[in-house]
Amino acid sequence: MPPNFDTSVPNIARIYDAMLGGKDNFAADRDAADRLTEVEPLAPLYARQHREFIGRAVRLVAGYGIRQFLDVGTGLPTMDNVHQIAHRQAPGSHVVYVDNDPNVCAHARALLADDPGTVAVVEEDLRRPEEILAHPETRRLIDFDEPLCVLVTAVLHFVPDADDPHRSIRVLTEAMCPGSHLVISHITDEEVRRTRPDDNRTGMDVFAKSNAPMHPRNVPDIERFLDGLDRHEPGLACISEWAAPNLSVIRDDLRDTWLGAVARKP
Ligand SMILES: C[S@@+](CC[C@H](N)C(=O)[O-])C[C@H]1O[C@@H](n2cnc3c(N)ncnc32)[C@H](O)[C@@H]1O
Repeated sequence: MPPNFDTSVPNIARIYDAMLGGKDNFAADRDAADRLTEVEPLAPLYARQHREFIGRAVRLVAGYGIRQFLDVGTGLPTMDNVHQIAHRQAPGSHVVYVDNDPNVCAHARALLADDPGTVAVVEEDLRRPEEILAHPETRRLIDFDEPLCVLVTAVLHFVPDADDPHRSIRVLTEAMCPGSHLVISHITDEEVRRTRPDDNRTGMDVFAKSNAPMHPRNVPDIERFLDGLDRHEPGLACISEWAAPNLSVIRDDLRDTWLGAVARKP
């Protein structure tokens, strides 16, 4: 078992796994997922829609001929992981999974990297983008002279401003050649904080007690991650809109809590 493996502290990868109905979680993670669902009954739906957003993003990008993917903040293996979606579109696409949680990496190595010729798992941190780019496994599978897709989904809001996640994204996108893509998703809490401050406090408290407190951002600060890139329709939009454009069950006050974008380097 990896060091620092404490099942009594809710872990963000396992809370998300519990929310998605997965089996790789413990009582503390399920309690955290339950508390989040109490304040936001649509949270499990949102988690599933977020995976659908990733699916749509990978298919969209693969449609532009992209055959290499760098997925930073992979999370625990679930159904339809990036390489499975990519391989359905284009068998042989290269995928490098990066996560800073040793437990997530152990699971990913066991379940995702079944074809070392096309898939690798790297234990690294988004806050150290130069190390991600220089890692031998990244260099083995990603050719930076060819367009690639960098995914950083449901991760940036776990990195505080003090650790400058905008710099991390800048370093990653500077390494991409023109025609490459960036896929991000991010929590924003402006609307919930205004309309449901008690629920918002409870949600933030759940993450404050986890291994990675949450740092929601306002829309302009999320847009800054996309500086210099051309956004695909529907732009920086609610992930529900990406996942199911015709869905009508989303309440107005939820529309803007979890945003996603797919953008191309010109
Ligand atoms: C909520 S999961 C998201 C999984 C997947 N990207 C998705 O969107 O479905 C967040 C993942 O990001 C990882 N993570 C959090 N902070 C990170 C960092 N600074 N560097 C790398 N991975 C990080 C966590 O370990 C976790 O596995």
